[in-house]
Amino acid sequence: MTSSNATHVEFVTLAELHLDEIMEIELEAYPEPWSRGMFREEIRNNRSYFYVMLLDGQLAGYGGFWLVLDEAHITSVTVRDCLRGRGLGRRLTRHLLEVAEGVGAHIATLEVRESNVRAQNLYKAFGFRQIGRRRGYYPKSGEDAIVMLLELGSGRSPAQGASVKAGD
Ligand SMILES: CC(C)(COP(=O)(O)OP(=O)(O)OC[C@H]1O[C@@H](n2cnc3c(N)ncnc32)[C@H](O)[C@@H]1OP(=O)(O)O)[C@@H](O)C(=O)NCCC(=O)NCCS
Repeated sequence: MTSSNATHVEFVTLAELHLDEIMEIELEAYPEPWSRGMFREEIRNNRSYFYVMLLDGQLAGYGGFWLVLDEAHITSVTVRDCLRGRGLGRRLTRHLLEVAEGVGAHIATLEVRESNVRAQNLYKAFGFRQIGRRRGYYPKSGEDAIVMLLELGSGRSPAQGASVKAGD
């Protein structure tokens, strides 16, 4: 894509007003979705940095992390189904990593379903590597989680980790 069809992406902090739309996306996106109460907890939890991604003002995705000491533990990276495959997942991940660095995180970690190759490819593009596996982590399916880690500020800037297809 070129800048001629670029669209405007912005990030805002998660708020109650986003929850109806988020729940629609969440229920479609995950076999074991978060509940509304879990998202509310992200609003309240002062260790949580959770953002909504707006594309031309429309809610296109969301994601966040918990800051625990120097670790940013990424809790969600989610793009609306009809908007996937155009760089928004990268854009969202890059935002989370930039915020994480800005608030003093030295590492970022996450868990991802073993079968979720798409998400694993996205994280690898930023330099995440597999450091472990949690057997049967997902209670419904019993699927394993792959644990991934990225050292922040280790030379590979999140801002350079990927090109932006959806524009700025
Ligand atoms: C994972 C997710 C966030 C990716 O968002 P997206 O907007 O489609 O991703 P992007 O368009 O930015 O693509 C980024 C990278 O993801 C990978 N990717 C995207 N689509 C892919 C596909 N169909 N197959 C394999 N890899 C794919 C590629 O590495 C891609 O880079 P490339 O375009 O240079 O090849 C999105 O698919 C999603 O919301 N999935 C459901 C929720 C989820 O599983 N989240 C992750 C939880 S750990």
